[in-house]
Amino acid sequence: SERLEGVLGPKADAAWWLHEATAGLELAAFVLFSSAGGLVLTAGQGNYAAANVFLDALAAWRRAEGLVATSMAFGFWDVGAGLGQYLSEVDRRRMAAQGLPVLSADAGLALFARGLDRGEATVVPLRVDAAALGVRRDEVPALLRGLVPVRRVAAAALPAA
Ligand SMILES: NC(=O)c1ccc[n+]([C@@H]2O[C@H](COP(=O)([O-])OP(=O)(O)OC[C@H]3O[C@@H](n4cnc5c(N)ncnc54)[C@H](OP(=O)(O)O)[C@@H]3O)[C@@H](O)[C@H]2O)c1
Repeated sequence: SERLEGVLGPKADAAWWLHEATAGLELAAFVLFSSAGGLVLTAGQGNYAAANVFLDALAAWRRAEGLVATSMAFGFWDVGAGLGQYLSEVDRRRMAAQGLPVLSADAGLALFARGLDRGEATVVPLRVDAAALGVRRDEVPALLRGLVPVRRVAAAALPAA
C-alpha cells in the first residue's frame, strides 16, 4: 500500500485537483498526461497502471459531463529528461524488441497535436512495430494482439481433408 500511495496517489490526486480547480472555467482543452503503461506495459507496474487508467476514466467522465478532456496514454518519450533521463540503450532495445519503440520529441509533439484533434476522451499516442510484435516470445498484451501479423500455417502442416 506504501507503493500505491507513492505512485497512484500523486498522479490521481493531481488530476482530480486540476479538475476541481478549473471548475466553472471556459477551457479550450484539459489534457491529462496518462501513459500507455496503463494499457500495454503493466508487468510490475500495477500501481502506475492504476494511476493512468484513473486519468483515462476521469477524461471519459468529464466528457460525459459536457466538459473538455483528453487523456493521452503516451508511450515513452526519448528526450533525456523526465522519466526519459533514466532510459539506457538496453531499455531502448528492449522496448523496440517488444514492438513499442520510444518516441522522439518530434513524434511525441506531432502525436500530441493529432491526439487533441481527434476529439476523443482517451487517445494512445504510441509507436507500434507490428513486425517486432509478431516475433515477441513473451505474451503480447491483449490490446495489441489484433495488430500481430497473422502467421501463415504451412499447408503441409494441416490435416488432410
Ligand atoms: N516521459 C515520458 O516518456 C512519459 C510517457 C508517458 C507518460 N508520461 C507521464 O507524463 C507525466 C510527466 O512525466 P515526466 O517524464 O515529464 O516526469 P518529470 O519530468 O519527472 O515530471 C514529474 C513532475 O511530477 C512532480 N512529482 C513527482 N512526484 C511527485 C509527488 N509525489 N507529488 C507531487 N508532485 C510530484 C515532479 O515535481 P518535482 O519536479 O518537484 O520533483 C515533476 O514536476 C507523468 O505523469 C508521466 O507518467 C511520461
